[in-house]
Formats: sequence, structure tokens, C-alpha cells
Amino acid sequence: MIGYLYPLRTYLIVAGSTDKPNPMTADWVVPLSFNPPLLGVAIGKKRYTRKLIQEQKDFVVAVPTMELLKDVWVAGTVSGARVNKAERMGVTFIPSKKVRAPSIKECQANIECTVAKEVETGDHIFFVGEIVNVSHGDAFQDEKPEIRDFKFIMHAFSGPNFVWQGDEIVRP
Ligand SMILES: Cc1cc2nc3c(=O)[nH]c(=O)nc-3n(C[C@H](O)[C@H](O)[C@H](O)COP(=O)(O)O)c2cc1C
Repeated sequence: MIGYLYPLRTYLIVAGSTDKPNPMTADWVVPLSFNPPLLGVAIGKKRYTRKLIQEQKDFVVAVPTMELLKDVWVAGTVSGARVNKAERMGVTFIPSKKVRAPSIKECQANIECTVAKEVETGDHIFFVGEIVNVSHGDAFQDEKPEIRDFKFIMHAFSGPNFVWQGDEIVRP
């Protein structure tokens, strides 16, 4: 039934440390509040990322573009419980400013969050993250995405099926 909510944008949730990072692909990311700045991420109870975030109480939401799609697929199909995913990916993990979880150099934004609340929602844990720092690349100017020059990833439907947003602005 959740399929009716698609297409949804796709992100990378990073937990662990710069030395031992664990990135995980996530569609279920939602803005929650301007002030304080809050976002939410629903993470399956079986995910290694769920365990790491519950332990370290912070995470990063990294914003990938289409150039990183192969890495996004690895992060979304392999579990860090068994494999060091970072070694299978071509991205660079760099220290974040305010949280232990690292940022990803090649991503166009890295939104650093501390866990403000955890809610059990069926088979997922919904983490409410307070945004404590953001760093970004050229794809954002004054918090606005440059949609003509950058292809933000959208998950069209279940499986390896992705699209990027169109660049036509339509006004009502
Ligand atoms: C495009 C895509 C989106 C996904 N979105 C989510 C999500 O929002 N929440 C979630 O718990 N898992 C999601 N997954 C599944 C996890 O990314 C996947 O199970 C991953 O291997 C978990 O890694 P971990 O065990 O290292 O945490 C998604 C996978 C893909 C490919």
C-alpha cells in the first residue's frame, strides 16, 4: 500500500564514524519542523543502521545526485552487518562538523542530525532528527536546489527503478 506514495526522493543515511562509516539508502525521509529544524527518517528494525543510530544518537542525511546511483544501489542492497559497504562504494567519507556520523564529500548536501526522539512505528523505528549543521555543494544556493544543473534522485517504484526531477518550473 505504501507504493501509492511513490515516486519519492532518495537519500543516503550515514551512521558510524569516519573510520568505520555505514551508509544506507532511504526514501522514507520527511521534513517535520522549521523551528526547531527537525526531520524524520523511518528505518527498518532489521537494519544495521537502526542499531548504529540507537547507539550513537546521531546520523547524517546526505543528498546524492544521479552520478552516485551505483553507490546508492550498493548502500541500499547490502547490509553493513555483514559487509564493509564503504569499501564497495566510490565515495569519500569526511568528518562532519557537529556529529560523529561522517558526511559524504561527493553528495550535494550533508544534513547533520542528533536524535531528538525515537518512535516505534510497526516494523520501522522513526527517528526524529534535530538538524545541527548543514554543509552543501553547488547544487544548492540559499537552501534552494539548482534543478536545471543537478539531477536529484527519485525512486520511481520498488526495485532498481529511478528517475530524476524535470527542470520545468510550473506555477499554479
Ligand atoms: C532506493 C532504496 C530506498 C530505501 N529506503 C529505505 C528506507 O527508507 N528505510 C529503510 O529502512 N530501508 C530502506 N531501504 C533498504 C535499505 O537501504 C537496505 O536494507 C540496506 O541494505 C540496509 O543497510 P544496513 O543494514 O547497513 O543498515 C531502501 C533501499 C533502496 C534501494
